[in-house]
Amino acid sequence: MSEGEAGVATHADEHAATLDSEPCGACGRANPIDARFCGGCGQPLRSVEQELAGAADPLIGRVIADRYRILALLGRGGMGVVYKVEHVHIGKLMAVKLLHGELARDRNTLKRFEREVEAVSRLSHPNTVQVFDFGRSEGLVYLVMEYLDGKDLGQLIREEGPLPFARVARILAQVCASVAEAHALGIVHRDLKPENVMILGAGREIAKVLDFGLAKLRDQSGGVTVTRAGAIIGTPYYMSPEQIRGEEVDARGDIYAIGAVLYKACTGVAPFVANTPMGVLTKHLTEELVLPSRRSEVPLPPQVDAIVDRAMRKDPAERYQSVEELREALLQCLSFDGEVSEVSLPSGVITARADEAFATRRDVDAYERRLRRRGILGYVLLAVIVLGLGLGGFRLWEAYQGKPAVLTAEVEPNDEPDQANPLPMGVPLEGYLGQRRSAELGDADLYRIRNESGSRKLLQVEVGPLPNIDLVVDVIRVGQHNPLLSADSGPAGVGERIPNFPINEGDYLLRVRERWIVGELPTENVSDRYTIVWNLADLEEGWESEVNDSLELADELGADDRVRGYVGWGGDVDLYCFAEAAPAVTVEVTGVSEVDLALREVDRDRAASRKANAGGAGEGESVQIEDVRPGRSCVEVAAIEAAGVRRANGEVPYELRVRRAPSPVEAP
Ligand SMILES: Nc1ncnc2c1ncn2[C@@H]1O[C@H](COP(=O)(O)OP(=O)(O)OP(=O)(O)O)[C@@H](O)[C@H]1O
Ligand SMILES: [Mg+2]
Repeated sequence: MSEGEAGVATHADEHAATLDSEPCGACGRANPIDARFCGGCGQPLRSVEQELAGAADPLIGRVIADRYRILALLGRGGMGVVYKVEHVHIGKLMAVKLLHGELARDRNTLKRFEREVEAVSRLSHPNTVQVFDFGRSEGLVYLVMEYLDGKDLGQLIREEGPLPFARVARILAQVCASVAEAHALGIVHRDLKPENVMILGAGREIAKVLDFGLAKLRDQSGGVTVTRAGAIIGTPYYMSPEQIRGEEVDARGDIYAIGAVLYKACTGVAPFVANTPMGVLTKHLTEELVLPSRRSEVPLPPQVDAIVDRAMRKDPAERYQSVEELREALLQCLSFDGEVSEVSLPSGVITARADEAFATRRDVDAYERRLRRRGILGYVLLAVIVLGLGLGGFRLWEAYQGKPAVLTAEVEPNDEPDQANPLPMGVPLEGYLGQRRSAELGDADLYRIRNESGSRKLLQVEVGPLPNIDLVVDVIRVGQHNPLLSADSGPAGVGERIPNFPINEGDYLLRVRERWIVGELPTENVSDRYTIVWNLADLEEGWESEVNDSLELADELGADDRVRGYVGWGGDVDLYCFAEAAPAVTVEVTGVSEVDLALREVDRDRAASRKANAGGAGEGESVQIEDVRPGRSCVEVAAIEAAGVRRANGEVPYELRVRRAPSPVEAP
């Protein structure tokens, strides 16, 4: 919104402040997007750092509807805020208009919005902005359209002053062509104004008309919308008398508005000016128009007065009766002027400079075709979920009857710990890695397992395989966030196996998911199922006790100990710290087939370490440690990962042996 006539404000900015921001962190109340303090509890809504950094817009960087990443603010208007966005799946630029919270909250307005936008998305004239999508996400109502790299006509007039008539006529003839298509489909724009005409390209300018149909939402009660504060939404400068009176507006209302835009563009001033919006509206209704030639500082062709006079008659019956007629009049002026008229070319020839970075209708259509193909998969998934839920309900009922409840297929949703499916020991269950949760997060299936043996046991899990997914299995202690273990030894197409993971008594979660790769869209696979099954095995004395992969969690080691352990997954390390002092010890680790083991001496007091890796894959290692101090002298067993190759072997344990070395002979 931008009209700048002296003394007349449309108070659009007041409304620009009604788009809801994220809720207040302290009390949860929704606040206007540009509020600095919560209206409920008074807490600051943005941190001091954000304020100082000028990070004023919390929407920048956010992804809405799982696909539109907000990049930058393009402009604010009476009904919403327009942002430049990137479609994260197509990778191209678009523009999104987010409607103000006030409009977005009203159910009737929303319904009307959907109807209007559906109609508007049928418009395909090259001089009309293409509308790609609309919907509602996280309380925001959004409209997605073609991104236009240019200036709106309002900006152009503000920057350059009155424009030469020939240039204006070429622009407005294109506007007429755009509007003619809409009129033929029964759509009236109702809000034609310089800010709703984007101008692209230098030299041969292309005009694109924005915001078809949107004004209808605003003018709910018919006529002018007056806010509680008495301000008018929308600009009064281009409104026809019948629209101001709240009467039915047809094509001739748009003709009046185009006449007013022609007036403003050629003279630099609006046809009626007053100190208040109401004053402007009254003049549209009652005051005789001062012809543009009398308001212009430069001489205008006589036809300009004639066109404006006819387009802006107070009685619609006296105006041009169609935009085509108005367009013809504009083109005729150009040809009188000896102008070579580009706009008289068939409309299809008028195309804006194609830019690879900007999404076109074709990009969106191709994406939608892909989605439709996936949609079929979605139905399959839905069927699976419905079946699964049915089965889940049946099992619950069974449980209620006192019979054992055993799931044999996962029950979605089971993405979160409190939704985890109970998974009894030894019973195979089938699952799918289906619908992704977002562009960054794939499906995750959570299962709750329990070690109720009363003692420490070795957990054994088998999952998979899925042909196109690199599976990861996380073992998570219930109540904790970070997994104790993320098993990912095999690539896509290979199942995951946790052969021997010592766990204590209690409840754990198994999470099956795809390996997360930053920036890559998670895979959905509803046509292949995996199976998951787990068991517990006895843990003999003399085994490592996972988790022992940090110095704090290291196992204790005696000076004459023998311990067995597994380097069962890529990235596993086992740490042991001596429990007793000794002058010197030799530590040896036996080899594990296919794995290149390394043995490292860690001295916590000196914060130093020394690695032994003399042998290759399958071979053992040994280190000599002097002055062994309890809790301070430690050793680490790990698998060396050759560039990108995860080497693990959960089948073959290593054995760690400690022997006291004879005391070093004192030098004579
Ligand atoms: N598709 C688009 N591509 C690039 N910029 C756009 C696009 N749509 C809108 N803009 C920019 O955003 C500004 C604000 O648009 P918006 O429609 O919200 O405001 P307005 O036209 O001034 O008011 P109203 O809400 O009454 O239409 C426009 O003036 C234009 O500069
Ligand atoms: Mg607009």
